[in-house]
Amino acid sequence: MTGLSGAGKTTLSYALESALHSMGYFVQTLDGDNVRTGINKNLGFSEADRYENIRRIAEVSRLFVGCGIITIASFISPTSVIRDMARTIIGPDDFIEIFVNAPIEVCESRDTKGLYLKARKGEIKEFTGIDAPYDIPAHPALEIRTDLLTIDESIKKMVDFLLPLIWKDR
Ligand code: ADX
Repeated sequence: MTGLSGAGKTTLSYALESALHSMGYFVQTLDGDNVRTGINKNLGFSEADRYENIRRIAEVSRLFVGCGIITIASFISPTSVIRDMARTIIGPDDFIEIFVNAPIEVCESRDTKGLYLKARKGEIKEFTGIDAPYDIPAHPALEIRTDLLTIDESIKKMVDFLLPLIWKDR
């Protein structure tokens, strides 16, 4: 899942994980909480560090996917270069790009972590959408507008889309 900070990636990831678990699937969610505090805790938010962040996440995801575990990777992954790199590492058949989208004004008004305010005050530099770029995904496999859908509606849309893909090679 790609999208701005505050778009709803983490919320949807864990709700999706829970929905898939309850159907009997093994699922691993990777997000900032378990990756940037551990394996990637030496990385910041420069373009080079974000690239390295996603490169490692893609390599870890590839290992999970290799043993058949549905892996939900929930990161801003701000540029098409970064997302294409992840797609190449994981393989185009296993990489499904979901654009978790809400207008930046909505993300900023939610400001769940208070970071937009800090970015506006200049206390955080290179904040995605403020003074660092976010490339809108050109052809996401699925787009979820979190300003228009409820969490339950979003999860239904994702599950309906994903289930046929999970079953496709069986
Ligand atoms: S990514 O760009 O490398 O994909 P990632 O998803 O891991 O980013 O981390 C984003 C989270 O880090 C944001 O949701 C926010 O909580 C926090 N964060 C801290 N500094 C920044 C920044 N400069 N830009 C964006 N997010 C930041």
